Amino acid sequence: MKTELFKIEENNIDASAMEIIKRAGQIMKDGGLVAFPTETVYGLGGDALNPESSKKIYAAKGRPSDNPLIVHVCCMEDVEKIVKSVPEAAYKLADAFWPGPLTMIMNKSELVPMETTGGLETVAIRMPSNKIAAELIRAEGGYIAAPSANISGRPSPTIARYCVEDLDGRIEMIIDGGQVGIGLESTIVDLTVDVPMILRPGYVTYDMLKEVLGEVSIDKTIIDANSKLKPKAPGMKYRHYAPKGELTIVEGNQNSVVDYINTEAQKYREQGHKVGIIGTDDTCRLYQGDAVKSAGTRDDEATIAKELFKILREFDDEGMDIMFSESFDESGIGQAIMNRLLKAAGHHVVHV
Ligand code: TXA
Ligand code: MG
Repeated sequence: MKTELFKIEENNIDASAMEIIKRAGQIMKDGGLVAFPTETVYGLGGDALNPESSKKIYAAKGRPSDNPLIVHVCCMEDVEKIVKSVPEAAYKLADAFWPGPLTMIMNKSELVPMETTGGLETVAIRMPSNKIAAELIRAEGGYIAAPSANISGRPSPTIARYCVEDLDGRIEMIIDGGQVGIGLESTIVDLTVDVPMILRPGYVTYDMLKEVLGEVSIDKTIIDANSKLKPKAPGMKYRHYAPKGELTIVEGNQNSVVDYINTEAQKYREQGHKVGIIGTDDTCRLYQGDAVKSAGTRDDEATIAKELFKILREFDDEGMDIMFSESFDESGIGQAIMNRLLKAAGHHVVHV
């Protein structure tokens, strides 16, 4: 299959951009697949109400079909049609965070096929704020099922080039909307339980949810790496976000971390390995590796969220087979950053 690639600027959706979006919408209506930007990561979209489309999504990603997809909508009225009833909490959360990087789990209606929900009676729903995504959902007719647009197990794409790398020849179209703003997948909150529960941390933090809902819990498997429990979001059980090389997170005070990483890096480089190091704006100049990249600044951890997956991909492209990363503060969005980083590292952490 030939994959068409088009560029659209989110802040300049003119008539020719709308033509592309309409065409993309039609491709999905006809059962085809389109990768497109959202504010979190790029999504791989298909018609959420068509079981054949969902099957194609699993096949294109190489994803196990028991791992449900998120249904993307562009208005609240459309949510009402695909769930049994909209819980009060959903209206509150929608008011506060939609459109935006929050996914809510509700009990599904008959309209949503089991193929889309991986066999579950619940459905994950998100209203993205990216303007290209919003127009695309409208053009498609209302319901786009979209996992992250990567081959299963690779870091989620934050620029279109990585969608091309993973999906070229497997899908009908890729829309390039530039680098995404957030860089980590949406926060997922389950509203089918008594106390709403965070199943995946993201840009919308525990504190932000708590302020709106009063009471929120967190799936224990997110906080406790050694938990024997099964994560409630099926996708969270996989070693996601994995770079090709071996990543170690180094935790401790700044001087010890820098010393440890430099010593290890030198050792590996002498053995012929290529070593990539993830630091911050303040520390990068202190490291010696084959590639040293700043994830951003600790003063604003959103900068780190935005760059993290991109750096892991770049290290892959540059052939780094050994990687070290500093550890980050787990408050606020840091919880999502560390959740993804720990998975990328296969929970390999060194305390110095
Ligand atoms: O930011 C995002 O959420 C991106 C963009 C494209 O919107 N999408 C995304 O999709 O990250 P994906 O498929 O990579 O991750 C979806 C996660 C998986 O961990 C899946 O198991 C969980 O959501 N999920 C989906 N439906 C669920 C359900 N009914 N119950 C529990 N977990 C669910
Ligand atoms: Mg994913």
